[in-house]
Amino acid sequence: MSELQPVRLGIIGAGAIGKVHIETFRQIPEVHIPALADAYLPAAEQRASEFGIDRVHATPQELLENPELDAVVIGVPNQFHAPLAIEALKHGKHVLLEKPMSIDSESARLIFETASESGKLLMMAHQMRWSALNRAIKQQVDQGTLGRIYNVKTGWVRKKGIPGWGSWFTRKDQSGGGPLIDIGVHMLDLSLYLMGNPKPVSVYGSTYAEFGPQRRGMGTWGTPNLEGYYDVEDLATAMIKMDNGATLLLEVSWAAHAAGAKEEPYVQLMGTEAGLAVSGDTGMLITHEDDAVKETAVEPLEGESDRVLMGRHFVECIRTNKEPVSSALTGYTNNRILDAIYESSRTGNEVKINW
Ligand SMILES: NC(=O)c1ccc[n+]([C@@H]2O[C@H](COP(=O)([O-])OP(=O)(O)OC[C@H]3O[C@@H](n4cnc5c(N)ncnc54)[C@H](O)[C@@H]3O)[C@@H](O)[C@H]2O)c1
Repeated sequence: MSELQPVRLGIIGAGAIGKVHIETFRQIPEVHIPALADAYLPAAEQRASEFGIDRVHATPQELLENPELDAVVIGVPNQFHAPLAIEALKHGKHVLLEKPMSIDSESARLIFETASESGKLLMMAHQMRWSALNRAIKQQVDQGTLGRIYNVKTGWVRKKGIPGWGSWFTRKDQSGGGPLIDIGVHMLDLSLYLMGNPKPVSVYGSTYAEFGPQRRGMGTWGTPNLEGYYDVEDLATAMIKMDNGATLLLEVSWAAHAAGAKEEPYVQLMGTEAGLAVSGDTGMLITHEDDAVKETAVEPLEGESDRVLMGRHFVECIRTNKEPVSSALTGYTNNRILDAIYESSRTGNEVKINW
């Protein structure tokens, strides 16, 4: 592909996140979106006319047959991530895959292996890594401000935010799980990235379902289906140990009696020389100076939105054959941890992760 030709991108999934991806990539001149597919054709047609997309396909398979497409975005329910990502890679397409990589680590491993064999790019859509504040935090970590990071706390506690009750979101066979795999995966991903990608080696965790099964705690994302069912957790908590001795504490919920919780994503990195925290739009650096605690606000970096920067990175990686920061390996690693938390909750035991 010549540098001057735009990347021809097909969108698979015309739902809520599909729309966000179209809006994002339309802001990147190096990308052209000629085609869109959704299993529900009216949704695809409506989205295509909204954004002036020429071709509409009733199945992803039809879209993947188009030899003119260089890459696809996959933004469909989690159960289809693995089959569609694998099919797309085998059709020679680069893939930007929505999170979580898959509903379990076994199918995530198949994506990882297929990506390696195909020579095509598979990048996970973890836009939080690209926010103005998280980039500022990452810059400080990379400059060594924290020294050795030995403990991290992260989470996203929603008090009333169950998405699409009864839809694929709350059905284990279609989603892989509840808030842990839905929003917890973002916090795991961001934390591991900021920590410098240490290898997780053991996990102890618990999950609970106290609101969802009683149809309490519904939020506004997704479309509820009261004919459907709820068999996933609504709260998860875990401790993850890394090969370098560091610990990561995670708490995440869709619904909980969490008095005082800010309901925003947070990460608190504790290092030997300093600490950095992000909570929603606020960043803070903490140091001990002359035996006194000093806290300084962290200013966000300048630049485009998180999603546009993520999209630009995808394009750059395609064009330069570069490994994306949110690589297939990081997606697979996240799925290994998620599986281990569910297993630990089921068995009551610590779960070792062997690499
Ligand atoms: N990165 C983020 O912050 C973020 C935010 C929201 C959702 N997501 C992820 O995006 C994915 C989709 O979520 P959503 O909120 O857009 O869901 P949604 O229900 O709004 O949209 C899903 C769309 O996929 C279509 N679809 C279902 N099965 C399909 C198939 N086999 N082939 C083609 N189309 C199919 C549906 O008809 C629907 O239009 C999920 O994996 C979710 O975790 C990520």
